[in-house]
This record gives sequence, structure tokens and C-alpha cells, in this order.
Amino acid sequence: MRKILTVIGARPQFIKAATISRVIKEKYSNKIKEIIVHTGQHYDANMSDIFFTEMEIPKPDYYLNVGGKSHAEMTGDMLTKLEKLMLEEKPDVVLVYGDTNSTLAAALCASKLLIPIAHIEAGMRAYNKNIPEEINRVMVDHVTNHFFCTTDVPANNLRKEGLVDNINIVGDVMYDAVLFYKEIAQPTATVKNLPDDFYLVTCHRQENTDNKDNLISIFKALEILSKNSPVVLPLHPRTKKYIAEYGIDISSLNIIEPVGYFDMLYLLEHSKMVLTDSGGLQKEAYYFEKPVIIMRDQTEWLEIVEQGLGILTGADKGKILDAVSKLHDIKSFKANIYGDGRAAEKIVAVLSKVA
Ligand code: UD1
Ligand code: UDP
Repeated sequence: MRKILTVIGARPQFIKAATISRVIKEKYSNKIKEIIVHTGQHYDANMSDIFFTEMEIPKPDYYLNVGGKSHAEMTGDMLTKLEKLMLEEKPDVVLVYGDTNSTLAAALCASKLLIPIAHIEAGMRAYNKNIPEEINRVMVDHVTNHFFCTTDVPANNLRKEGLVDNINIVGDVMYDAVLFYKEIAQPTATVKNLPDDFYLVTCHRQENTDNKDNLISIFKALEILSKNSPVVLPLHPRTKKYIAEYGIDISSLNIIEPVGYFDMLYLLEHSKMVLTDSGGLQKEAYYFEKPVIIMRDQTEWLEIVEQGLGILTGADKGKILDAVSKLHDIKSFKANIYGDGRAAEKIVAVLSKVA
């Protein structure tokens, strides 16, 4: 029996990990034992527990309780706690997802203990070191042993950095999640009672929330859009804090609490367009064939912009409004370039041999 120690802590990682845990449980339970560590980076019920329940993710074996701290405090706290439990558990491989502080701490810790690391969503780059996620993913990839890339774009990014061995191009586990869960999703009244024909918005990235001018500019654009169609915005706790601090008027918007995955699938399906700075939501917009305004200066998911289905606007009010009018008429979506919905199966097949 091989032992995989999975480290997750933030909302998008629960969604990605759900697909891998399901394959391990259903097809590899006699070969692989998965130990799940939840760092506690996200801790509110609607940022964490709801995903475990709805998506039937196994209950974490360990909970590290590191949430609500600064980058350094949180990462340091995770490192100390992870070292202790990696020494106890002695896993054959440590599995990490994406580019959060939980990803960085787990990879750094495992690398010093000489435990092989597998990284899902390896090779993503925005080529901007001012964003914390870019620092995390570059550092993680440089200690990773087994790379799982969505397409050949991130695979080539790795090769350019001299990381040439054990690259697997497998597609996107988030596409697997959409295909599987949209068949069983039970949305709640919170979303079913919303007005029709709405813009779906999420915004939580540090470069937007922690910069007063940027956040004011984004919300000004949303206020203008709301005069034409409802703007539905499940509000991340980070953004909620800064909206209050900057005194931003949100009265014209349909602000709701962060929603579970089932409600989010419903919102994606029923929206007319998505405006977001989220990594995950950019792709989900694409999977639901909705145009997407990417409120960032760069994106790792370049293919969506190259296909003309997304426009990068940063936080600029004028650019956001222009992009919305440009994308209103998009009708044709080309074949999905993020895999065939079997990324998790491909990843676990590799892990069962290397772990
Ligand atoms: C983190 C990730 C980001 C990812 C996002 C997903 C890093 C550096 N950033 O950003 O890449 O896109 O998660 O959503 O790892 N908070 C709560 N309750 C919660 C969680 C957070 O109140 O359950 C508040 C706290 O004030 C906390 C702040 O939000 O300090 C920020 O949380 P944190 O996990 O540090 O970063 P995110 O902005 O969520
Ligand atoms: N999501 C969700 N409820 C919300 C907001 C987002 O279920 O209220 C899901 C979204 O559908 C996607 C994932 O969370 O699957 C994206 O996470 P987030 O935007 O927090 O992080 P990022 O992808 O930017 O790292």
C-alpha cells in the first residue's frame, strides 16, 4: 500500500482535491492510502465545510488551524506543523494543488524531508512577481518531482525553467469536477430566487482588494453595469473587509455570502457573463460557455484570452465596461482545450506507479 499525503487549505483546493480523492476511493483503494491534511487557511463554514459535505470529500485526517494570519505567520505555522506530521506519517509522496500559501508550505516542508512532491496545476505562470501566487507556484515547481500540467502551455513554461523530467499533460481536474457535479448538484433557494439575466462577479485577489484605487474602480464599473442588468456577487471575506474599510457603496449590487459549489454551478449556468479575478472561475466560465472579463493584468489561463473568449482588463473601470460590451456578442465557443474530463484518473494512474 502506497501512502499519499494530500495538503489542502483554500477553497479552490477542496474542489480540485474532490476529484482525486474520488478516483482513489473508487478505483485505487487497495493500492493507495490517502491522508488528507487541511491546513485551515480557509475556515468559515461556507469557505470550507460546505465543500467537504457537498462534494463528499473524505474528512481530513489532520486540521492545522492556521487561518486568518499574515503570509509569513501562516506559512511558518504550517511549516512547523507539517514537518511534525510528515515525520510521523512518512508518506511516499506529498500531493499539492495550485499556488496558495498551503501549497508552498507543504512543498517546502516535503522537499527538506526528501519526500517526493507531486504538483497539480504545475507550470502556470503570470510572469508577475508582485502577486503572491506567482511566487508560490514558481517556488513550488522548483522543488516538485512530478508535474501535472493542464496543457502544453504550462508544460513549456516548466521546460523554459529547466524543469524537463516527469511532466504529465493531463487536462484540468476542475473540468472533471464540473462534469461530475453538475449532474448531481442541488442548488439552494439563495441562488434559485435571484433575478434572471445577471452578471456573475467574484473578486478577491490581493492586487485588487488591498489597493484602494483598484477596488473602488472595479466597484464603480459594477455599479454602472447594475443599471442594465443585475450584478450577483458572492462576496469573499477578504473583499468584505476592504469594502468596509474603504467605505465602498454596494447598495446597487446583489451581494450574497460565499456560496457552495452546487450553488456556484447554478450561478455559472444562469449568468450571461462572468467578471472575475479568480483563477478557477475564469475556466469555469469557459466550461459553461460564458464570456469572461478577467479583472487582472495577466492571466495564467492564456488560452481563454487567445481564443477571444476572455478579455484582460485589470481593475480599470473604462476597460471593464468596454470589454463587457465587446463580449456581449460572443456566440461561438471552440472545443474545450482543458482536457477530456478524465484528468484525475490520469493523475492517479501516474501516482499509483510513482508513489
Ligand atoms: C487565498 C490564496 C489565493 C486564492 C484564494 C482562494 C494565498 C496567498 N492566497 O487567498 O491564491 O485565490 O485563497 O479563495 O494563499 N478569511 C475569512 N474566512 C475564511 C478565509 C479567509 O474571514 O474562511 C479572511 C481573513 O481575514 C483572511 C483573509 O480572508 O485573513 C484572507 O485569507 P487568505 O487565506 O490569507 O487569502 P485569500 O485572499 O483567501
Ligand atoms: N467558488 C464557490 N463559491 C464562491 C466562489 C467561488 O464555490 O462563492 C468556487 C468556484 O466555482 C471555483 C473556486 O471556488 O471552483 C475558485 O476559487 P477562488 O475563486 O476562491 O480561488 P482561485 O481559483 O482564484 O484561486
